[in-house]
Amino acid sequence: MQQQTVVDHIDRVAEDVVSLVLRGADGPLEPWEPGAHVDLALPNWLTRQYSLCGDPADRETYRVAVRHAPLSRGGSEYVHRFLRRGRPLDVSPPRNHFPLLPATEYLFLAGGIGITPLLPMLRAAAGEGVPASLVYAGQSAETMPFLDELRALDGVRVRIVATREQGRPDLTALASALDPGALVYCCGPASMLAAAQAAFPAGRLHAERFRPTARSFAPNTPFEAVCARSGRTVQVPADESLLDALNHAGLPVAAGCREGVCGSCEVAVVDGEPEHRDDIGAPAGRMYACVSRARTPRLVVDL
Ligand code: FES
Repeated sequence: MQQQTVVDHIDRVAEDVVSLVLRGADGPLEPWEPGAHVDLALPNWLTRQYSLCGDPADRETYRVAVRHAPLSRGGSEYVHRFLRRGRPLDVSPPRNHFPLLPATEYLFLAGGIGITPLLPMLRAAAGEGVPASLVYAGQSAETMPFLDELRALDGVRVRIVATREQGRPDLTALASALDPGALVYCCGPASMLAAAQAAFPAGRLHAERFRPTARSFAPNTPFEAVCARSGRTVQVPADESLLDALNHAGLPVAAGCREGVCGSCEVAVVDGEPEHRDDIGAPAGRMYACVSRARTPRLVVDL
């Protein structure tokens, strides 16, 4: 269920980055944990996902940060150029594909706007007294949001790397010094995620992607989607996604990224075998209808 909010304030927090504080219009907002994100239904009919970077204990407001990407598909352009204080915005309940798991120590790696999901994690680690380090890379300090908040965190070792002057951080060196009980949380551009995957063991690295990984799949084949609750059967041709086929048939499924990274389009699978093509890691019995297809001629979904 969508939550009604109002833009409470918009602040410039770095070069080309604004933070939005959204106030619940109908009482307390849905609770969330560090790593969660929400879908913002923008007034230009685009839905975009943003990590929550405020305080989970604050049920009155959500805070997100948006970097202006002029060549993007229009979400950040709208936020930066047209969104104003007082504007109503529908916001989805928070979803969390990037939860902070217990560890004896944390290493956080942020690239640019990738600091947003990590900021509440850093506060949580600091609050619980778990040793935590942050390596935060960006082109220059002016482009990196929330530096003052990060420097004010008690008990967190913060290293800021302005890559134009200092080059990229050496993740291999960080990996060799990693405590055996430490977990690594990384959010940033694809180049940083690739470097992190090369440097750290898979079981200790938790990463959040903004963009899908480039992968190839077998050619699409048509399949049949049987909707258990409505009793409808929908043909999914090779050149259409399950998401589009369901929506065109009048069976609405929410959508955000349409690239298998946000989780908005999750549907429950009752029977048949999905072919997962997302970057989230679908839980058992679920699939993401924007990218995933079927290994069996027939899928039964809970719609
Ligand atoms: S719409 Fe984002 S995962 Fe499908």
